[in-house]
Amino acid sequence: MKLLLLGSGGREHALAWKIAQSPKIEKLYIAPGNAGTAGVGENVPLKADDFDGIKAFVLQHAIDMVVVGPEDPLVKGVYDYFKQDAQLKDVPVIGPSKAGAVLEGSKDFAKAFMQRHGIPTAAYRSFNGTNIDEGIAFLETLQPPYVLKADGLCAGKGVLIVPTLDEAKKEFRGMLEGMFGEASATVVIEEFLSGIECSVFVLTDGKHYKILPEAKDYKRIGEGDTGLNTGGMGSVSPVPFADKEWMQKVEERIVKPTIEGLATEGIDYKGFIFLGLIKVDRDYAYAKAGDPVVIEYNVRMGDPETETVMLRIKSDLVDLLEGVAEGNLDTRAIEFDPRSAVCVMMVSGGYPQAYQKGFPITGIDQVNPESVVFHAGTALKDGQVVTAGGRVIAVSSYGDTQNEALVKSFTEAGKITFEGKYFRRDIGQDLLR
Ligand code: AMP
Ligand code: GLY
Repeated sequence: MKLLLLGSGGREHALAWKIAQSPKIEKLYIAPGNAGTAGVGENVPLKADDFDGIKAFVLQHAIDMVVVGPEDPLVKGVYDYFKQDAQLKDVPVIGPSKAGAVLEGSKDFAKAFMQRHGIPTAAYRSFNGTNIDEGIAFLETLQPPYVLKADGLCAGKGVLIVPTLDEAKKEFRGMLEGMFGEASATVVIEEFLSGIECSVFVLTDGKHYKILPEAKDYKRIGEGDTGLNTGGMGSVSPVPFADKEWMQKVEERIVKPTIEGLATEGIDYKGFIFLGLIKVDRDYAYAKAGDPVVIEYNVRMGDPETETVMLRIKSDLVDLLEGVAEGNLDTRAIEFDPRSAVCVMMVSGGYPQAYQKGFPITGIDQVNPESVVFHAGTALKDGQVVTAGGRVIAVSSYGDTQNEALVKSFTEAGKITFEGKYFRRDIGQDLLR
């Protein structure tokens, strides 16, 4: 089969790496890809949201399947664009319809969806310019810290967690006045959940589903989970506390009602669902201490979680994707690799604030082939791999234990050099305590 993957980050390199291993793949294209994806397939100079350009490419190259990496083309309706086009309608797109992508595109919709289907999530209310005073009054009923969320997509920046009521009121007004543009014209205020986070991934054909290996990501720039939020500084899989009993609760209370809810609401959904979960450490009205609660839905895989999850899927991913396309995912097998996988993200100096790009990257060829180097923000310049983003390279490794995998990734990351490089050396340490 000829497959086109949309996107250009570390997540897409990891997906491309896994897809390219499938005996079913005759040709893999990535649009636009990066310096790493060029090593496992052919990059195509098209933006992931250039639908007309993608259409021309798909027809010209007789593409059999399109897999969508990032949320942006999904929220913009790439699935519907294909379904509504006479020439494209039979080319399967792995990713939800525009109506399904609203689970990520609107926090207000996602919260209401969870309430309709009895899925445990933090108590909340939504506000806009017409009911500011009610929002202020609602904040006064909550305990600190206060959680404020822009309704729309903000590239991961739309959530504020503030310690005092005065600050919360100020930030709430600021958000409604356009702090995040249109995305914060509606603001969700919700109860703060205390506990430890875990990302669970589900692949669905709209009726059947497979739960993929879970992972934990490390969002803050500094060691000990300090400093500014980033796109993600590393990940580990499996997550020790996500044991069989906990995952059974996730499946019964969250995965099943989510899939059934989408179906009963007539939402066409054939793709990945990313459940951002928290194992709460005290009782809430909707969950007991130790139970899983949903923080958010995303309609794609996570980054950098994909850089460990792909290592832990033993089965042919393309076979599973075919099951999604054909609506017979229940007939496909999924097997996990029992080993631990970890990913350490190397970032540009200054990230997540201002940083420079274009520095040559050396040492990738020195890395032990047992580890996998996934490119995130890299580019090729005159045949040389250079930095081209904040998150630059993810070094993923296997180990019989998490620690063994971590030692490998830290050692290999030490061999890769570029000006200003930084990575966290405490990935996974919180789980060992
Ligand atoms: P989101 O974009 O909804 O995933 O939120 C970003 C991050 O904010 C999450 O990964 C959590 O770390 C944190 N967060 C969001 N909502 C809550 C909440 N209700 N309680 C505690 N932390 C939260
Ligand atoms: N790792 C979090 C995300 O992909 O949104």
